[in-house]
Amino acid sequence: MISADEEVDMIRIYVLAEDYAGYNSPFWAQHGISFLIEVKLNGVRRRILFDTASYSEPILFNMRILGINPKTIDMIVLSHNHFDHTGGLLGIMKEIDRKVPIFAHPNIFKVSFAIEPEFTYAGPPLGKRTREEAERLGGTWILSRDPVYLMPGVFTLGEIKEEEKVDFERETTTSLYKLKDGKIMKDSVEDEIGLGITTKKGLVIISGCSHPGIVSMMHKAIKISGHETYAVIGGFHLINADKERIQNTVKILKDLGVRKIYTGHCTGLKAESIFLEEYGVRGFRKLHSGMVIDLPRP
Ligand SMILES: [Fe+2]
Ligand SMILES: [Fe+2]
Repeated sequence: MISADEEVDMIRIYVLAEDYAGYNSPFWAQHGISFLIEVKLNGVRRRILFDTASYSEPILFNMRILGINPKTIDMIVLSHNHFDHTGGLLGIMKEIDRKVPIFAHPNIFKVSFAIEPEFTYAGPPLGKRTREEAERLGGTWILSRDPVYLMPGVFTLGEIKEEEKVDFERETTTSLYKLKDGKIMKDSVEDEIGLGITTKKGLVIISGCSHPGIVSMMHKAIKISGHETYAVIGGFHLINADKERIQNTVKILKDLGVRKIYTGHCTGLKAESIFLEEYGVRGFRKLHSGMVIDLPRP
């Protein structure tokens, strides 16, 4: 029986795509996130590709330098519909070249856009044709609003419902809109799902952009697994947030006992500097392409 109670032995996360290349690094940066998450449990190894950034080429380039064969990817999780998390999907699937499940929210194919300062298409590059093309390449879509268990100790968070959100995260930090039945309405990015992994030191939470709010996503992961949080990894979308919201977020993460923060992408310099100040260099790391994260750390 698969459950969130099981603790995995080891996680290794390869950062295949990030907005920052790192200092003196041979890796390519691009806008977006892509992580290869390697999970080991009882001698079994599974490789989960979490998001596919904007383009596949820099991801495949970085994989070559890291010595990772795309054919070793067992499953794909797409965090939400935005192009900087889904754009590389088909290019990578061509290289995987075998059957893989793709886990996502049923609204991943919706049309969304920003209208300030001008119209910008946010996503997805996925449409009916992309959906079919992914199937032709061997993908099976597992579209679920509910949490899904990928293997013992590893689960998606499912949709973060409005009533599950903490008050200060109800208002999104992005001015995004979506089309629904020909009507334009505010987009809370309800399709964003994260990943939770239970380890001996506690939960590791992996997030793409954290549009529903990283604190609300953490609460959901804690509720599903019953574990405290050890590490949080991904973009926190605080780039447009005011200082109060940033300070609130950092304080709650600290109060909830989070010991390791790995962030970048849409978190923004202001929030990153506050995390660094609060967590120091032992607890905070800025993500960059090519980074390899082993957890839990001694
Ligand atoms: Fe993003
Ligand atoms: Fe996003």
